[in-house]
Amino acid sequence: HTARLTLDPAFTIGEVNPRLFGSFVEHLGRCVYTGVFEPGHPSADEAGLRTDVLDLVRELGVTAIRYPGGNFVSGYKWEDSVGPAEDRPRRLDLAWRSTETNRFGLSEYIAFLRKIGPQAEPMMAVNLGTRGVAETLELQEYANHPSGTTLAEQRIAHGDKDPFDIRLWCLGNEMDGPWQTGHKTAEEYGRLAAETARAMRQIDPTVELVACGSSSQSMPTFADWEAKVLAETYDLVDYISLHAYYEPQDGDVDSFLASAVDMESFIENVVATCDHIGAKLKSKKKINLSFDEWNVWYISGWHAIENSGARDWAEAPRLLEDNYSVMDAVVFGSLLIALLRHADRVTVACLAQLVNVIAPILTEPGGPAWRQTTFFPFAQASKHGRGTVLDVRVDSPTYVTAKYGEADLLHATAVRADDGTVTVFAVNRSRTEALPLHIGLTGLGLTSVVEHSVLADADPDARNTLADPERVAPHPAEGTVLADGALTATLEPLSWNMIRLA
Ligand code: AHR
Repeated sequence: HTARLTLDPAFTIGEVNPRLFGSFVEHLGRCVYTGVFEPGHPSADEAGLRTDVLDLVRELGVTAIRYPGGNFVSGYKWEDSVGPAEDRPRRLDLAWRSTETNRFGLSEYIAFLRKIGPQAEPMMAVNLGTRGVAETLELQEYANHPSGTTLAEQRIAHGDKDPFDIRLWCLGNEMDGPWQTGHKTAEEYGRLAAETARAMRQIDPTVELVACGSSSQSMPTFADWEAKVLAETYDLVDYISLHAYYEPQDGDVDSFLASAVDMESFIENVVATCDHIGAKLKSKKKINLSFDEWNVWYISGWHAIENSGARDWAEAPRLLEDNYSVMDAVVFGSLLIALLRHADRVTVACLAQLVNVIAPILTEPGGPAWRQTTFFPFAQASKHGRGTVLDVRVDSPTYVTAKYGEADLLHATAVRADDGTVTVFAVNRSRTEALPLHIGLTGLGLTSVVEHSVLADADPDARNTLADPERVAPHPAEGTVLADGALTATLEPLSWNMIRLA
């Protein structure tokens, strides 16, 4: 039967914060080296940045870019990564069992952001695994203080006259995870995060701070962790983080296709936990959510390497280079829809990661850069998903999943831009059936279908590869009609859809 929803400008969720379209560059595998940075590459600029990658990053439409990790940050010494490149130390990276040359560092990261353009914003993680308050303050002073102190003058002597003006800071990474170097209990981390936040605000009370939440909703400490950390930090931080990765487990594709059910419940449970602590503290302040790692990730590949005990400490090895299928892109699009549907509280989100490492962009050393299937939903959502999210209640046929019980076949959201145009993002989770869609439109003054773009393929396993980098791309849909205050369309099986109305 037909899936239905009604759009009405009177019913809204909230404004989309541009930071919802953030991403993540970690010193991991080839994300940095031979990803964004490759001196000697035919497309490299004078700073060694790959301009072919820069072009794709701009087209992708990313905003905040989190850096330098991830698990990497828990061994990070920021001062190794500044100053003359030839003097920088080579270090073991315990998180990814690699050798870090520090050839790309803080200054290169800021240069990379500036090259992308004004939409790109730094989001700097600090090491609260093996370091603490003092080193964080030194980094903040080096990065942000204009001049006149030893650290600020050091930055200037290193060639960066202008301060980096980093507004958004992550207080550590995944500190709840036993795999994290310097892993802590919620009480230990909560105290350290609070003291780090308090000290950072002594330098600049306006910095925006993200406390670490759980590494996933399935962590045994989930919710208790958030409650304990927020009990220590509520007045001192602005955001709590969420991380989630999805893959088909034991071949259970139907549950995989409904991954956003987990993502939405994760968001709602974290909001409830934040508001519970706020209520206990009788606080008017709301903590927002920074979903600063999300994606499809075939994580079992990494666990196999980890469990093999391999430690060859290679430089920029090929790690986590998932090549995404059309089906992966549909799930990915559904995760984007989940974020938009909670835009009132999720005001920062970072697609993990940006290049090569579980990324929408792949590169070959010395060779080309190309778009993965997941590139397209992100680019479309970032370009057209700006404005006010409308409150979309879906009446959809369902299917049965092992993990989440009955799940809707249709997953959708809609965003109204300031000029009154509306963009609907919708996923059909059915692997076999096209889904008829009916959208009632009241009071929106919409008269035409500007575009209905679909990502779907007769072969849901199709991918873009080095040999065939343009195998998959969105195509226009047929038969989408707006008449008598209603839109009717048919969503292809296993498809991501963007329908623009004016
Ligand atoms: O994004 C890859 C890794 O996933 C990050 O380093 C870590 O924070 C998470 O576990």
